[in-house]
Amino acid sequence: MTMTADYEVKSEVDSLRDEIRRHDRLYHETDSPEISDAEFDEMMRRLRALEAENPDLAADDSPSQTVGGAPSAGFAEVTHRRPMLSLGNAFDDEELLAWRRRTLDLLETDAFDMACELKYDGLAVALTYEGGRFVRGATRGDGAAGEDVTDNLRTVASIPKTLRSGCGGEGVPDILEVRGEVYFPKSKFEAFNAERRAKGLPTYVNPRNTAAGSLRQLDWRMTAERPLDIFVYSLGYSEGGAVPDTQWETLAFLKNLGFPVNPHNRLFADEASVLAWYRRWVEGASELDYDCDGLVVKVNRLDYQRHLGEVGREPRWAIAYKFPAEQAETTLIDVRFNVGRTGSINPYAALAPVFVGGVTVRQATLHNEDYIAEKGLRKGDRVIVERAGEVIPQVVRALADKRGCSDEEVHMPRVCPSCKGAVRRREGEAMSYCENASCPAQLVRRVEHFVSRGAMDIEGLGVKQGQAMIDAGLITDVADIYALKDRRGELAAMERMAEKSVSNLLAAVERSKTRPLASVIVALGIDLVGAEASALLARNFGSMDAIRAASEVDLTALNGIGPKIARAVAAHFAQPSNAAVADKLAAAGVNMVAESRPSDAGTPLAGMRFVVTGRLANYSRSAIQDKIKELGGAVSGSLSGKTDYLVAGDGGGSKLAQAEKLGVEIVSEERFEELAAGSGRLL
Ligand code: IVH
Repeated sequence: MTMTADYEVKSEVDSLRDEIRRHDRLYHETDSPEISDAEFDEMMRRLRALEAENPDLAADDSPSQTVGGAPSAGFAEVTHRRPMLSLGNAFDDEELLAWRRRTLDLLETDAFDMACELKYDGLAVALTYEGGRFVRGATRGDGAAGEDVTDNLRTVASIPKTLRSGCGGEGVPDILEVRGEVYFPKSKFEAFNAERRAKGLPTYVNPRNTAAGSLRQLDWRMTAERPLDIFVYSLGYSEGGAVPDTQWETLAFLKNLGFPVNPHNRLFADEASVLAWYRRWVEGASELDYDCDGLVVKVNRLDYQRHLGEVGREPRWAIAYKFPAEQAETTLIDVRFNVGRTGSINPYAALAPVFVGGVTVRQATLHNEDYIAEKGLRKGDRVIVERAGEVIPQVVRALADKRGCSDEEVHMPRVCPSCKGAVRRREGEAMSYCENASCPAQLVRRVEHFVSRGAMDIEGLGVKQGQAMIDAGLITDVADIYALKDRRGELAAMERMAEKSVSNLLAAVERSKTRPLASVIVALGIDLVGAEASALLARNFGSMDAIRAASEVDLTALNGIGPKIARAVAAHFAQPSNAAVADKLAAAGVNMVAESRPSDAGTPLAGMRFVVTGRLANYSRSAIQDKIKELGGAVSGSLSGKTDYLVAGDGGGSKLAQAEKLGVEIVSEERFEELAAGSGRLL
């Protein structure tokens, strides 16, 4: 591989990781996805492919290695005894058959049985029983640790609270952790929403969101009012008692213990039967009383499963064969454009409302000019839209034979829809850009990015507030955020800005001044410069001044910074408005130096692996993660034999016990500060 390709790959991997993390958080923590499952899967596939081709880019904290979002505040954290994995996907017969061939090769056999189950689209939970009694229920969370929703799960009638001995005579293991999917029955969804509407409460969009929302009620009495149900599908952990040898027997074992097990599970020995069964459910799944988005095909023998193991977050012994995304026909009313942070002009479709994939769709992304041309879209066209699961809709194609003579061609705007500045398509790119650096639409997006968690981490300044502050002339560039403290009166007069929110916001703004240099670089929103490139720049140059003074040649001298990134960094600071923002930030007192200057001895946390648990006094979770990385250390969500330190704050929970078991050193926040200050490894 050439040096250039190397750098390009690195920056693509960086930006894929950032984007995947962001969308994962939206999906898991706020139940408000912005993109389709298919788009998410595609990004993950691309990341995996790049990581596989470039093993030197592997990272423990890559989203390909971790699962989902972190547990949200409000529930205690439960560390899963074994990680709750995700599933790889097949989207057509060929992909399923390829999985089977790979698996046959790995097992060095010419046959294996497959347990085939429906893939329920609800919320994954782990139910723990001790001495046959239900003691704990947790959500999947990030796969390593989830939320303790025991009280809520107790209200689900079909979850047994005590286990009966198996009818087959088998006893109940001393400790048993059972995994399954909680769902909201489709048949009860309409009536439930109607009742809420009558009470003047907001309604839910679809059964999956309702299940997720119901299970994460902070008051279990609210959950108790929802008719939640469950199908269980595996044993996560067991101790003290015999357990089955195959997935098929596990399902029977679970049924005997009193769990709801889906009646449509099948055991097949050959691929033709699996494919036939898939076709039966592509047609039939909509008649079920629960949402299903595919089949799960699992290697039946558990010894085979153990032998196959997993790659990153996905087991090799199972695969989800997804049903095709639901499609519907509607009218493309208009093609509109919004402006991104970098000035990119993003086309989207305004559609006649159509119900598809569980939601009413009014808009769909059109990506860029080439995408529109490739699909031959015209305003007024009848189009097919698609939405798979929890998703952003796509326009799949236009129905050219239904085209009227009035259907209009689509053109990219020549001027920016917001500021009317010139728009130009960059050479070699499919995107067009607004060239005006002070375009207000770009500014809103820049503010959104600046305050985000991976950047300055300023809570309380959402898009609406940002827009209002820009409209009121309080913000003309991101650095003006630090002058908001002098505009208290104007802030308090704004809609939805109570005195308390103003105080909280201003406190968050002040706190952000001590963000690590790498986060400040992220916040500037330099093209192609994500979290990893920022950390590299901070670590190696030590200060914003040094980065600004560096030439492209100086920048490319860094392992990991290629010519494209170097050019983007130099071009960013060469632009007077960007240089002025950086000056203003420094003058406002924003940290512009790395905590430790590069030295021969390396960074103080170099080579150390950390896991963090509990609430810390001086750091948010993302702030301490940033600091560890900035100082050369690595952070992971789950403990393993390779972990050096567990940084424990208040309410650390089960990770403490796990660390003790693994012999991992537990350190307080104070001790962590000493380590970070370079006082060396603990003995
Ligand atoms: S097996 C280790 N079986 O799909 C593989 N998962 O995309 C995962 N799901 O987190 C568990 N139905 O929430 C399994 N019959 C089924 C399933 C199923 C739905 C969910 C589960 C999992 C997700 C992975």
